[in-house]
Amino acid sequence: MGRATLADIKEKDFGELVKETKTNTEDKNKVSNSNKNRNTTSDRRGKKSRRQHRKMMMPAAVVVSPVQRLFDTCKDVFALSGTGIVPTPDKIEQLRAVLDEIQPADVGLTPHMPFFSPPVIRQAPPITYLHIHECEKFSMGIFCLPPSGVLPLHNHPGMTVFSKLLFGTMHIKSYDWVVNVPSNASTAVDSSQTVQHPEVRLAKVKVDSDFTSPCNTSILYPADGGNMHCFTAVTACAVLDVLGPPYSDPEGRHCTYYYDYPFTKFSVDGATVPEEEKDKHAWLQEREKPEDLTVVGALYTGPEIVEN
Ligand SMILES: [Fe+2]
Repeated sequence: MGRATLADIKEKDFGELVKETKTNTEDKNKVSNSNKNRNTTSDRRGKKSRRQHRKMMMPAAVVVSPVQRLFDTCKDVFALSGTGIVPTPDKIEQLRAVLDEIQPADVGLTPHMPFFSPPVIRQAPPITYLHIHECEKFSMGIFCLPPSGVLPLHNHPGMTVFSKLLFGTMHIKSYDWVVNVPSNASTAVDSSQTVQHPEVRLAKVKVDSDFTSPCNTSILYPADGGNMHCFTAVTACAVLDVLGPPYSDPEGRHCTYYYDYPFTKFSVDGATVPEEEKDKHAWLQEREKPEDLTVVGALYTGPEIVEN
C-alpha cells in the first residue's frame, strides 16, 4: 500500500490512519525480512520518513488549563443552581477533585505578590479579591490575605461553597445554626449585666483549626458544614472560593456579618446544652459590616477562561 500524503491525512479520520500505519508497518517488515542484511542510505531515509509520517498522524493533544477545567466543571455542577439547591454528591466530588489539583501558579499567583506583604502599620491589613468569574449560577474568585488578615464571621445563605487553600496557613472557625432550640431574642439575658440582649441565635462550632496548604478543599452547605465562617491568616495565604449560587441581594442572598459570644454569656429560657458541650456552642449576633474590614478588588492575571 502506498504511503499517505498530507492531503490523504486531512481526508481520513484517525482510525483509518492507524489502520494504514499498521499495514505500512507490516509491509515494511516483509521488505525488511527479505533484505535482512541490507542497510542502505535509502533504507535510513525511509525510516526517517516513516517516523515523520507517524508523527503527522498523531492527533494534536487538546490542552485545557486547570482554571478552564474548573470553570467547565462549575458550569456542569451548578447547572441547576439556586437558593438552597445543593449539587448531587457525585457532582460535589467532581468539583472537589478538580479543586484539589489546582496550584497557585494555575491561577497566576505567587506568595511574593504585593498584596501578601505584611502590614506596615498595626491595623487590619486590607484583603485583596481577585475576581475570576461570576454568573447567576456560580462565582469564582480568590481572597489574598497578608499575615494577620481577617475575613470576619459571615454567612452564605442557601449556598454551597468550596474553599481551596492555595498556599499558606489559615485559621478557620465556622458554625452551623442549632435548630429546635429557643433563640428568642427577647429572652436573651447577658448573665454579667442582667440586661436583655437583642438578636442572638445559638450556633454550634463546626471547625476551629489551623489549615496549612496543601490540604483538602473544604465545603460548606446551606444548613451544615460550617455555613458561617471566619478566616484568619496565620501566614500570608490565598483561598480560592467557588460559590453556587453567588451572593445576590435581589434574590435574598445577602452577606451578613456576626459577633460570636460564648454560650455562657447569655441565658435564654429553654436553651440548654450539656456542660461538656458548652464550649462548642456560641451565640451569634448580627452586626454591620466591620468598619476595619477592607476588601479591595484587583485584576485576575491568571490564564484566561473561555466561556463557551
Ligand atoms: Fe465565606
